Amino acid sequence: MSPFLLTRTLPEDATEAALRADVLHGLGSTPKTLPPKWFYDAHGSDLFERITELPEYYPTRAEREILLARAGEIAAASGARTLVELGSGSSEKTRHLLDAFPDLHTYVPVDVSGSALTQAGRALGAERPGLDVHALIADFTATLTLPDTPGPRLVAFLGGTVGNLLPAERAAFLASVRALLAPGDTLLLGTDLVKDPSVLVRAYDDAAGVTAAFNKNVLSVVDRELGADFDLDAFEHVALWDAGHEWIEMRLRSRVAQTVKIPALGLVVEFAEGEELRTEISAKFREEGVRAELAEAGFELTHWWTDEEERFALSLSAAR
Ligand code: SAH
Ligand code: TRP
Repeated sequence: MSPFLLTRTLPEDATEAALRADVLHGLGSTPKTLPPKWFYDAHGSDLFERITELPEYYPTRAEREILLARAGEIAAASGARTLVELGSGSSEKTRHLLDAFPDLHTYVPVDVSGSALTQAGRALGAERPGLDVHALIADFTATLTLPDTPGPRLVAFLGGTVGNLLPAERAAFLASVRALLAPGDTLLLGTDLVKDPSVLVRAYDDAAGVTAAFNKNVLSVVDRELGADFDLDAFEHVALWDAGHEWIEMRLRSRVAQTVKIPALGLVVEFAEGEELRTEISAKFREEGVRAELAEAGFELTHWWTDEEERFALSLSAAR
């Protein structure tokens, strides 16, 4: 069995402090908001895995199709000895990439979800003798410190998760990824593409209600961690296409006028009937936009691959 190391750069109390600050700020704003990284406790990570298997949720299958077709080209073009994956979750699709990198020295999965990282990292370390797995529990929107491992480095950011950041956050995030790299290191980015809005809305509002449960899970996290009394049944999942911004917006709509208490914050929050709490965006992209955002951050896009149906894209870029 190869080495498996888990480093926590987020102390438990810092996580708690960050959650308090985010909830205080978000529920005090107009309109009310809650930031998406709090979806991913152990239950949220399990629900997300179920989302990836839904018939309506095409991004995982489309991205897997591209990875299977292009892993060899990605490995050859990057020449990487260290693969860093941001928001790695279950690392399920990453296996296709790892298969194409026989000489990879270290895999560094980075995620806020300790449960997902531990499961995925242990399994990978056991399956692949010779590969060092150094998992990092960290917030990829904060300043990351990577372990000192051999270059070149390839940073992978899959699943369209980059679309969950607002445009200004995205620019800051891409610049911070560039700062982790040396010239010639590479970035593999998964981006979901603009398409028929009805297809998009179904992917975020499935018939079985798994996405609704996932969206509402953020309320359970606040109930458990901060002693709040959110009643999940009193909120309705909403997914809508914002054509101007070209993003899906996820909201939770209060079914009734209600008061929610959050004792750990000494906060009482009023919801009007029909009031919507914004939880997440999922931006959809076009090739020219991705190329321009990457250029702005100091990357040159060298490869652009889509699935057969052109629903999703993987791009490979070199740090300049
Ligand atoms: N890469 C996987 C999972 C995508 S879901 C896939 O393509 O299927 C998004 C993942 O990012 C989750 O595992 C979640 O825990 C993680 N995540 C979300 N916000 C994060 C943040 N700010 N810092 C680190 N990880 C984060
Ligand atoms: N990165 C995923 C995406 O944007 C996350 C996601 C899928 C998600 N379904 C969701 C986030 C529902 C919140 C609610 O596709």
